Amino acid sequence: MSLPVDAVDVKKRIEECKSLQDVESIRLEYLGKKGLIPSEMKLLGKLSIDERKLKGQELNKLKTLVEETVNNQKTNIENKEIEKKLQNEKIDVTLPQQEITDGKIHPISQTIFSIIEIFGNLNYSVEAGPDIESDFNNFSALNIPPHHPAREMQDTFYVQNSDGEDNVLRTHTSPVQVRTMLKTKPPIKIIVPGRTYRSDSDSTHTPMFHQVEGLVVNKDANMADLKSTLITFLKEFFEIDNLKYRFRPSYFPFTEPSAEMDVAFTKKNNVLKIGEGDEWLEILGCGMVNPKVLENCNIDSSVYQGFAFGMGIERLSMLKYGITDMRGLFDLNLKWLDHYGFSPLDLRNRAEV
Ligand code: DAH
Repeated sequence: MSLPVDAVDVKKRIEECKSLQDVESIRLEYLGKKGLIPSEMKLLGKLSIDERKLKGQELNKLKTLVEETVNNQKTNIENKEIEKKLQNEKIDVTLPQQEITDGKIHPISQTIFSIIEIFGNLNYSVEAGPDIESDFNNFSALNIPPHHPAREMQDTFYVQNSDGEDNVLRTHTSPVQVRTMLKTKPPIKIIVPGRTYRSDSDSTHTPMFHQVEGLVVNKDANMADLKSTLITFLKEFFEIDNLKYRFRPSYFPFTEPSAEMDVAFTKKNNVLKIGEGDEWLEILGCGMVNPKVLENCNIDSSVYQGFAFGMGIERLSMLKYGITDMRGLFDLNLKWLDHYGFSPLDLRNRAEV
């Protein structure tokens, strides 16, 4: 029993193939419907029993040989192609960096750095509190009892804790006033930059935004101190010495008396100029801490008094850096950040904290 004459030959031909198509055409030549082996098989019936047996075995052997060699060669070619691909995809780590741009500091972070730096120089320390707050800290302790109309001024996100009790996503940074007064004895002198949440979303409101709170409690805090602190801060922040501003009486449940501070601006050719002009832009709320709030936080209001203020960081940021669309601040658009962001390597942009 031996293989047909060309068996060695066909093995060699298959193994020399460089492409899958070449292998496939030899396979068809031998194993295809009209290929050599099926055609020979058809002729077997014409042979004698002995010859048929012999020839049949030879053809089956040849068939197996072709099938195995074809499969092996196909695998070889595929492996070589993968290897070649990997070779070409190799990253040359010695190439100079070209397309990777430096990361940038977001204007909101930059604004927070500046605020911390300015108040840091005025001896304020930085406090923080959780985003999820109790109703007591966010409202009641701040003299905003249940059903008080001031609760409706702030569209609140409610979250239930595991006991079924209502917590809130803090609607302002003011609850950190409460936390600080409950855990620290006066004198207190803090700012609280942080995230705040209200169920409000349009071109000038986002459901998450940032505020910075300020609180001073001691034996002689007064309105004149409050005013000079805020004037100093805004002049430094906007880098304008003769900033035009005004204080207006206002109402907040947690301060008495309360005020709002406006800065003047002009708008020419769609460009906003801060600090001068005849139009006014509201920047912050402030006032003397309501004695009821001091008492709610176990501070004796016949001995201590305080002032507080709160402002929106997005607005400060947009005014200082000329950002016109608030939504850009939260779009995660790298081109936008490349334009408005700040280099982390520029030390002038960083507060020394
Ligand atoms: N919490 C106020 C708000 O979110 C802002 C505010 C006003 C904070 C007056 C204060 C303050 O501390 O004294 O609208």
